[in-house]
Amino acid sequence: MCGIVGVIGAEDAAPLILDALKRLEYRGYDSAGIAAVTADGAMDRVRASGKLRNLEKAMAGHPLAGGTGIGHTRWATHGAPTDGNAHPHVAGRVAVVHNGIIENFRELRRALEDSGATLTSETDTEPVAHLLDRALGAGADLRTALVETLGALEGAYGLAFSFAGQPQTLAAARFGSPLAIGLADDIKMIGSDAIALAPFCDEIIYLEDGDFAILSADKVEVFAKDGTPVERPAQPVPMQVSLAEKGNYRHFMAKEIHEQPEVIARTLSHYIDVGAGTVRSSAAPVDFRKVSRLSISACGTAYYAGLVARYWFERLARLPVDLDVASEYRYRSQLFAADELALFISQSGETADTLAGLRAAKAGGQTIAAVVNVPTSTMAREADIVLPTLAGPEIGVASTKAFTCQLSTLAALAVKAGIDRGTLAPFEAEGFLNALAELPRLVAEAVTLEHAIERVARIVAPARSALFLGRGTSFAVAMEGALKLKELSYIHAEAYAAGELKHGPIALVDDELPVIVIAPYDDLFAKTVSNMQEVHARGGRIIAVTDARGAHAIGDTAEELIVLPDVPAFVAPVVATVPMQLLAYHAAIINGTDVDQPRNLAKSVTVE
Ligand code: F6R
Repeated sequence: MCGIVGVIGAEDAAPLILDALKRLEYRGYDSAGIAAVTADGAMDRVRASGKLRNLEKAMAGHPLAGGTGIGHTRWATHGAPTDGNAHPHVAGRVAVVHNGIIENFRELRRALEDSGATLTSETDTEPVAHLLDRALGAGADLRTALVETLGALEGAYGLAFSFAGQPQTLAAARFGSPLAIGLADDIKMIGSDAIALAPFCDEIIYLEDGDFAILSADKVEVFAKDGTPVERPAQPVPMQVSLAEKGNYRHFMAKEIHEQPEVIARTLSHYIDVGAGTVRSSAAPVDFRKVSRLSISACGTAYYAGLVARYWFERLARLPVDLDVASEYRYRSQLFAADELALFISQSGETADTLAGLRAAKAGGQTIAAVVNVPTSTMAREADIVLPTLAGPEIGVASTKAFTCQLSTLAALAVKAGIDRGTLAPFEAEGFLNALAELPRLVAEAVTLEHAIERVARIVAPARSALFLGRGTSFAVAMEGALKLKELSYIHAEAYAAGELKHGPIALVDDELPVIVIAPYDDLFAKTVSNMQEVHARGGRIIAVTDARGAHAIGDTAEELIVLPDVPAFVAPVVATVPMQLLAYHAAIINGTDVDQPRNLAKSVTVE
């Protein structure tokens, strides 16, 4: 959610912080602020509601001096995105920026106000600055004051602190929200993730939950929650984070859609050895003979990857699959059995609900596998088995290439499960692997349909509402298509299993409703076409996403046909996802919405 940056030891901290915040703006973008401390200890701050460019403008009229400082880009949880609620919050000598939610903030706030403090914002963060300032005012050294302050907090936090009168000191703390420390010869930094720190630092220390750190320009000390010093290894800056550039594309999302053939190929070549007809056990170290049930849990788009995977695991490996959105899974009374595998899917590897689900399963004695795109993320570090997607940094807030790489990874895993469990004969496994090997080419062909999809987007963009239908894995694609459309273009969109249509949603159909039907020519095609006819008979405007054989059979039942290359049914959901992404992208462009940073959203949802 929010982005955090801290710098110590710079000549001029504020421009550096601003630069790093730009790399973090995808985490939240409704307000921003920076506080800097000069060499003689004077602290000053600038805050602005709206995007980072507003802060940049404000700083042009109000430059911040000093080589030490902290900055923040916010995704509001408590209090509207106003200047006054923007971080940093200041109490006495302490300035703080925060990512997460302090759940007991009301109690803390009341206690502070009862004892005479004046709080000026509506946030859950400001009490933290007051608590630390009080502890320091009572004479505690910084380490003791941090132990006391952090001990009073309930909820989740990534925190960075700077101090008036102490230009040589910054502090950071993490519990439930990611935070890293960046190391370079002359400066030290704090950042929500490696992307912010990569251009400026050589090495990164990932704080663990409960850690806090005290930084000077030449030293970083890390402590456990009780104040005991702990060693956390410094790691080289991951190479791929430096690739987070837009190139010649208008939006990150466009770049990320077009990158898919390449990143899918990279991901698949990590998992499959087509020549040998196998899925590499070294890449996917799961022996599915010993797994009696798979439980999959994730949020949003990653959940839809799990939905596709359920069909694959059941069909190819005859493996029972439980599937939950993580925000439900974490609070269910799950029934864990010893021979189950708990699988979590997440681009960021930091999503609060998915991480909480992972921890619940771990506490229940489950073996944990995580399909993650950020190899240094908390989920990657806490899982027993890490299944990386090699999509590279995904900056557009709406997930695209991470999703198709998740599907590629899960498809390879499902084939492995079929091989391990003997439900796939060698020739069948070979057929599925060959289909996967074709995927980058097929996705590249689907991307070339962009012009046709742009035309269809002109039908969808003016609509108030849209319906997405599909059966089997195409139902999951329909769900993803509806999510992409609503989050990017703000058009209300619903997805239904096509067979559910007549159980209620058909009442929505009239001659203004675009109905996007994902109907590849597979064993459910005839059933889906019947549902399409029911829509057609009621005047609905059908946009069918199909293949050449399907297009021939659908004929003029559809107002528009998006004709995908002929693909094996197994990989069809990956290929059919591309028109969903392009449709949402172009509808958003037509509607003039912010493609890479849609309203009210943020990437990496690290609060509950
Ligand atoms: C939608 C989207 C979100 C994420 C969800 C989970 O386009 O990006 O629905 O998929 O917030 O995020 P991760 O995968 O980081 O756990």
